[in-house]
This record gives sequence, structure tokens and C-alpha cells, in this order.
Amino acid sequence: MNVKRCVVVTGVAGFVGSNLARRLLDRGYTVKGIDNLSAGTLENVDGRVEFHEADIRNPEIYPLFEGADAVFHLAAKTCLPECVNKPLEAASMNVLGTLNVLEAARIADVGKFIYADTSAEYEGIHEFPTREEEIRPIGVYAASKHSGAAFCESYRELHGMNVTIVRYFNMYGPAQDWRRVIPPVMSSFIIRMLQGDRPIIYGTGEKRRDFIYVEDVNDFHLVVLEDQRANAKTYNVGSGMNFSVNEVYQLVEELLKTGLRPLYKPDLPGEAEVTLADITAAKSLGWEPRVTIGEGLRRTIDYLRSRVPKAKVSVPSHT
Ligand SMILES: NC(=O)c1ccc[n+]([C@@H]2O[C@H](COP(=O)([O-])OP(=O)(O)OC[C@H]3O[C@@H](n4cnc5c(N)ncnc54)[C@H](O)[C@@H]3O)[C@@H](O)[C@H]2O)c1
Repeated sequence: MNVKRCVVVTGVAGFVGSNLARRLLDRGYTVKGIDNLSAGTLENVDGRVEFHEADIRNPEIYPLFEGADAVFHLAAKTCLPECVNKPLEAASMNVLGTLNVLEAARIADVGKFIYADTSAEYEGIHEFPTREEEIRPIGVYAASKHSGAAFCESYRELHGMNVTIVRYFNMYGPAQDWRRVIPPVMSSFIIRMLQGDRPIIYGTGEKRRDFIYVEDVNDFHLVVLEDQRANAKTYNVGSGMNFSVNEVYQLVEELLKTGLRPLYKPDLPGEAEVTLADITAAKSLGWEPRVTIGEGLRRTIDYLRSRVPKAKVSVPSHT
């Protein structure tokens, strides 16, 4: 008998959740999606998702977990400056929200719980590539995600829940929240350059980031979901390579050929100088990143080209 397995995805209207839901549906899962649309948009949500507009902090979500085989808990307050400006709200969403989703999964006896953690947990660690064992969160966002992860570990020990923690590095790709005041670096460069504006670099541009394309992360999501060896573990999910912000600008410029030079502005405080994932553990499950940064940027440009408001200058179209 071919019974469709059901997966709950919180944060389904956001960048990662919407891409993940599509991938799960294409693989034959049914997806129940939860999002309060505080940051995500309905436009992102695949029509096949059973969508519920709800807040993860509300016990009204509990019945949605009944009969589910797995949960991907992605909903969170993710905008770093907003977390600094509204720390109580960040804690409410990322800590209490996570605890409420854990409760929902525990009560419904869901077999697998996957928590979206962040490389921001490594802010105070200066060993590269960075392994999973040691963390040192500093900022409000990192501390709130860390507290959520601590409850995940607590439920793993206390209730024997099968909780796997995936610690993403800088993900990029289609559906990233490009409407933000300061969008993530790649989307920011592409949007400004498509509109004929100079891309803005905060600081010298020499900070290095481990960027990973969203579909590579989805490959790993499927491994975590389907391979029992991943049960109750913690994994870095990065590319194992890093690029400086200046190098990213060069790569985008090579694809768009705008002739626009970056505009350098004062550094944003509280950001790590370097991130670089040790992905040995993830690779031991047979996974590895497949999308090069050039290809990932090309796909992201194709997506954004059809969505950002009209360019002020003519930019050669990519085929
Ligand atoms: N994108 C990255 O590079 C990255 C890196 C590390 C970790 N993460 C983690 O991955 C997860 C997804 O990130 P993303 O980039 O898709 O972020 P996103 O902001 O695009 O999506 C988060 C979604 O959660 C929803 N949400 C927020 N609070 C909610 C609440 N109280 N109730 C219901 N829904 C709520 C938002 O509306 C949004 O759709 C987050 O947990 C984030 O911490 C992302």
C-alpha cells in the first residue's frame, strides 16, 4: 500500500520553508504548512500545501500535528536587526514558539522533529572549518536560536524525542526575503544591480561567508528525513567553502555586467568575520553540495529578474 507520509513545515511561507515544501511535495509527501505571514508571503506557498495561517506560539496549532510523521520547525524571527531592536519578540517567537511546537509534536507523538538552527551559534568561535561540537552565540538572534535548540535537546533527553538539529550556514536562492530593508547579501546585490543602483557593502567587504544553495540544503533535508542514521544528531549544513563579500560582488557583476561599482558603508556591528562549515558529519551520510556558486547565483538572478521592480537601466538578459 502506498500511503503518503505527512510532514508539518512551520514557516512554510518563508524562504527555506517554501522551497522545502515544494521539494517534499515533488517527492510524494503531503505537507501541512503553518505560518503567521509575519515575514513570509502566501505567494511563496505551493498550492498543494495544506496551509494554515497560525502563530506557532498558539496551542491552536496542536491538532495540526495529529497523524504527522515528521516536523520541520523553521518558523522564526530571522531578521537580525529586528531581533536586536525587539529582543523580547525574538525570544517569544524563537524560544517560546519552538517550545510550543515541541509540545505539539510530543503530544501528537510525531516520529521525527527537525530543528532549523544557525551558524550564528558559532559567532564567538574562531576555528575554521568549524565543527558542530562547540558553540558560542553572542547576538540576540543567535542566543534565541540557541535557546530553542536547548529545548530541542531537552526534549530529546527528557522525552526521548527523535530531534535532529540542522545548523545552516548562509543559504541563498529563490524566494529569499528580498523585500527586507537590508536583504541578505546576494539578493541585495542582485536587486540593486538589476535596478541600476550601486550595490552596498558594509565594511571592507573582506568578511567571508560559507554560502550554500537552498536546493543543496533540501537534498540534505531529505537525507535527514529518510535516513535513520541522522536520527537525534546535530549537523552543519554549509558548502565547506567560503567567499568574501567582495568576491560575491565580482561573481554577480560577471553575470550581470552592469559596470556598477560597490558603495562602501560603515560596518554593521556584531557580525562574524569568517564562517566556514566543517561538513564531514553531513557528508558521512552520503550527501554533498552539488550547486556551484556561479550556478546558484544564475538561478537566483533568474528568479529575482521576474520579481523586483523594473530596472532603471538596461541589463543584459540571461538565457
Ligand atoms: N536563510 C538562512 O540562511 C538561514 C541560516 C541559518 C538558519 N536559518 C533558519 O532557518 C529557518 C528559516 O529561515 P528563512 O530564511 O526561511 O526565514 P524567513 O524569515 O524567510 O522565514 C521564516 C518564516 O517564519 C514565519 N514566522 C515567524 N514567526 C512566526 C510565528 N510566530 N508563527 C508562525 N510563523 C512565523 C515567517 O512569517 C516566515 O514565513 C529559521 O529558523 C532560521 O533561523 C536560516
